[in-house]
Amino acid sequence: MASVAAVTRILLGKNLLNSGRVAVLPNTGFVKFYSAAPTYENIKIETVGAKKNVGLIQLNRPKALNALCKALFIEVGKAVKDYDADDSIAAIVITGNEKAFAAGADIKEMQNNSYSSNQRNGFLQEWEDVSNCGKPIIAAVNGFALGGGCELAMLCDIIYAGEKAKFGQPEINIGTIPGAGGTQRLPRYVGKSKAMEIVLTGNFIDAQEAEKMGLVARVFPVEKLLEETIKLAERIGTHSPLIVKMAKQAVNQAYETNLRAGLLYEKSLFYGTFATNDRKEGMTAFIEKRAPNFKND
Ligand code: CAA
Repeated sequence: MASVAAVTRILLGKNLLNSGRVAVLPNTGFVKFYSAAPTYENIKIETVGAKKNVGLIQLNRPKALNALCKALFIEVGKAVKDYDADDSIAAIVITGNEKAFAAGADIKEMQNNSYSSNQRNGFLQEWEDVSNCGKPIIAAVNGFALGGGCELAMLCDIIYAGEKAKFGQPEINIGTIPGAGGTQRLPRYVGKSKAMEIVLTGNFIDAQEAEKMGLVARVFPVEKLLEETIKLAERIGTHSPLIVKMAKQAVNQAYETNLRAGLLYEKSLFYGTFATNDRKEGMTAFIEKRAPNFKND
């Protein structure tokens, strides 16, 4: 067995001992690994809500209006995946700051991209980590949600906005088109004519108009937005996580298929809920006039 001093020397040499993630146990020299929260440079994460069951991701490049550089998106993808895998988290909220949710993909970073480099490197591919999440994701949008920022909001399941939010797909102004779902998701939210107007002009629309169009579910005073969004996540968190996941899958299927196939898909998931203990508990609790105690089972 190695001595405590020898193990300590090795770990110090590898800069591990100061990381807070490992410790040498006294007497034995055994090494204990701790799982530390990952450190991020472009986002901040925090678990919030009375039960700490809401995963909050705040985009944090304020000087660049939260422009979505690759490093930021890799971090968002990692945070979303971690929250998705964490049984204590019921829903995820993505937000920015008062000036910007996100002003789009990082124009400075992509300025010198070529068609070949985009293909080779799978430009924007990491965004799929957000759309693959099984748990509900809610966007809390204050300020600009432009280009990729609007697309990121639309990747989420519900969009809440502050009353000064501005949405738009201004890629046309810089000689390109939306590349992370803007031309596909926007018409599904607001219909073809309005989507065409937004994509072909590059004009911004305000929060009230976005709500009228159905892009945004609700609008709140700027300072109330995050609090109200977290409340929504907590409300979702009172239900069975398993059934919430199935409900999300069913609604999303409406955008993937025709009505007949979608209804069939819904029916099979609905029947599927009858194979869960949470469905049994939900109906039993209703009949016994008490609150259900869901077990995610
Ligand atoms: N990429 C990189 N940097 C950006 C950025 C972006 N998308 N948007 C803003 N910034 C930077 C600015 O360059 C500026 O940096 P410097 O201080 O170093 O010059 C800083 O953020 C502040 O921006 P402004 O001075 O322009 O702020 P403003 O209040 O005058 O204007 C704005 C705000 C109207 C949002 C303006 O910044 C703007 O038009 N931004 C670009 C919006 C855009 O075209 N988005 C689409 C990007 S392409 C895309 O997203 C493709 C896709 O589909 C994935």
